[in-house]
Order: sequence, then C-alpha cells, then structure tokens
Amino acid sequence: PAESAATGGGTGRSSSSTGVSVADLRGADVPAPGGTRRQYVLTAQTTTVRLPSGREIHAWTYNGQVPGPPITATEGDLIEVTLRNTDIDDGVTVHWHGYDVACGEDGVPGVTQDVVAPGEEFVYRFRAEQVGTYWYHTHQASHRAVRRGLYGTLVVTPRGEQIDEAGASVEQVDLTLPVHTFDGTVVIADQDGRTDHTAPAGTPVRLRLINTDSGPHRFALAGTPFRVAAVDGRDLHQPGEVSDTGLRLPAGGRHDLVFVMPDTPVALVLDNDHAGGLRLRPDDRAGTVGADTAVEDTSGWPVLDLLRYGTPAAVPFDARSRADRHFTMVLDRGVAMVDGRPTYAQTVNGRGHPSIPDQLVAEGDLVRFTVLNRSLETHPWHLHGHPVLILARNGTPSSGSPLWVDTFDVSPGEVWEVAFRATNPGIWMNHCHNLPHADQGMMLRLCYD
Ligand code: C2O
Ligand code: CU
Repeated sequence: PAESAATGGGTGRSSSSTGVSVADLRGADVPAPGGTRRQYVLTAQTTTVRLPSGREIHAWTYNGQVPGPPITATEGDLIEVTLRNTDIDDGVTVHWHGYDVACGEDGVPGVTQDVVAPGEEFVYRFRAEQVGTYWYHTHQASHRAVRRGLYGTLVVTPRGEQIDEAGASVEQVDLTLPVHTFDGTVVIADQDGRTDHTAPAGTPVRLRLINTDSGPHRFALAGTPFRVAAVDGRDLHQPGEVSDTGLRLPAGGRHDLVFVMPDTPVALVLDNDHAGGLRLRPDDRAGTVGADTAVEDTSGWPVLDLLRYGTPAAVPFDARSRADRHFTMVLDRGVAMVDGRPTYAQTVNGRGHPSIPDQLVAEGDLVRFTVLNRSLETHPWHLHGHPVLILARNGTPSSGSPLWVDTFDVSPGEVWEVAFRATNPGIWMNHCHNLPHADQGMMLRLCYD
C-alpha cells in the first residue's frame, strides 16, 4: 500500500472545513509564571550505535544516540525543541506520544506540518502542563523509522516534588526505562544503557516503563511489593499494593511502578527472561553494594487487570450519559479498496487508510468509541491529542480507578468502550500503534468541524 499516505508522507497540510489550517494551531510560546524555557536540539541522523550487549547496529537516531536525548521538564516549563534532519531521506518529525499538545505541534507530516527533509528544520513549542511519563517518536514512515531508533523519552515532574513537608529534599531513585527491540533482541535499560542499578534500602523508587515496540511486553517485579502509580502518564486513584503479579504493557504504553527499596535485591523481569531484565541492589550509605540473588520464577504470576485496580473516583463527565458522537470501529484485515485499488489491508469498518471516512466532532462533544477486534492479532488502539477513559471491556464496566490512557490493547475477539471530551481542536490521527498495521491501513482521522 501507499506507505507515504499511511504514515502521513504528503506535502499538503490539512485544513478543517472552516478553512483554518491546523498548522496554525500552535502551542504556548512562553513558560507559565515561574517556569523556565527548556531548549533542545534534535538532529536526525544515521549512526552506528553500540547496544548494551555490545552488538553494533545501523540506526536512525536523534543526536547519534538511541534512545534520543531524554527530554525532561518541570510542570509549567516551556519545552522548545528544534528538529533538524541531516540525512534521513524519508524525512522526519517529532510526535509527542500521549502529550496533548496543540494540534500544530503534534508532528504528523502532511496533516499538522510538512515533513522535515534533509537540510530542513522545524521548531516545536509547548507548555509542560501534563505531569508524567511520555515518549516521542517520528511520525514519518514510522513503521521502520521508530524500529530503527527515532524515539526518546519525555518526563515531566510536578513542581516542588523533591521537597517534603519540612522543606528538605527527598532522595529518590527515579529511572526512565524504555523497552525496544533491535533485530529480535529486546533491550530494557536506562538512558546510558545500564541494566544494573543500586538504591539505598528505604529509598522511594519509581520505575517508568515505556513500551516503544509495536507489540505488548509482559513485566514482573520480583523481590518487593509495589504499586502501579500511573498508567500512560496519568496517576491512578489510590492504587493498592500488589506482589507476585505480572503486568502487560501495550505497544506505546507506560506504567510507573513505585516501591520502597528493600534491603534485598529487586529484579524487573521482561517477557519471562529471568537472565535478562533489570537489577536493583541495595547499598549502604558507604556505597557498599549487596550481592545479587537468583530471580524467582515469575512466569506463572497472574497479570494485573487494570480495569479492576485502584479505587473509583469522580470523572469530569458522566460515563453513562448519552454521548454526543458515538463511533464504532471494527478492526479486521482483508482486501479493501484503498485509493481506488483493491489492496490487502489492515482495515477499520472494511476500509483502509486513506479511504476510511473521517470522524467528525465539535468542540465540547462527549465522544464514545466502541472498538471491536474481529481479526486474529492484537491492536493497540491510539488516539492523538486526547486521553480516553476506559468504560468497559467485553461488556464488563471498569470498576477500579478511572483509567485514562492514550493506548489500549484490543485483543482478538474483544470489544472496548472508551469515552473522552473533545477539547483540543484540530485534526488528530486515530490508529493502531502496531506501526506496521498503521502503515497497512489501520489509521483514520478525527476532525473538529
Ligand atoms: Cu505514538 Cu500516531 O503515534
Ligand atoms: Cu493493529
């Protein structure tokens, strides 16, 4: 299929029906009072990169590193990123996955901006108003470009977080851990490629897990009880402590795990590989590191059901009230007419991108999606620009904390109900985050009229 179309490779930018160009819907260009301006330059370039295993790969990178430079800010700061392209012939952009920026900052080539070709640049500006764990990646030919390395992490911390009631700074260990598969090898490591860490016993620890792959990963945290503090960057309401419990992280998704460092080692096991993963060992104040011990077998642990985890709380709309717009998306694959030609495609309601009708909403609408998977593959469904509230899976309503996500995994045969308020005008991609599926047609647009 037309790869350039499926991943937004067009050159003409889109306009809404009122004729306003979405490229003109730009973010704030000054920090909030008290915030600072955080400036970054991301230079897209081909680079040979050494993985933690020692293996060298031919990668596509931001600034010669995989992941790209970590982007961090404090709530209220202005994030200003200058993207340049040295030699990525496909062209590049930066999409802020899960971050609800103004549409003109969303990084979708052919829709919110022109693709950045070699020798060109584009400046993104937005205020860090959402606290939490996010990531960024190119949205051009993303099925190959993200796999090859054009991604990085985005973490925004609350203002004043490091200060306790007495005004003293609270020490904590905070690790941002993107997971990525290179040529069949799954890597979880911090920005410097480290998989071995230490923390003084008694220290609060936060692990920010980010799935940058196109399929789900299973995690298990062995050696300590823990809480899932946040999902897709948004805090859960009163999440309880769990142990001997696995986690399933959808493609594109994030989980923040928190616990207090015990005086024994902790292991983060990824996809039941008990030799790999990440190790955290206690040390004493003199820096003497305790010994590692064998990791218990976590493969039989049940997977946490996030729809029943945490405590219910109020949400800004009545989830049972009638939606202003209700869209049903049936996910399947087969031969569909795409651009007037019969094409084998990943389909939504029997059609492939760009032949799937736009979903039209008005500002302020309560929008509901019913997503039904008739295929034999999992589809991690992702909407740009808006977190969605999970209402139900297979007819069973969510009964735990309100669960706001930007990506939810629709397994074969499942039906999901989600809702959101349309409060961010523009044109937004709505697609499967298995990026090859998006490339093969499973992508449409949600447009404000
Ligand atoms: Cu993380 Cu449209 O993407
Ligand atoms: Cu899919």
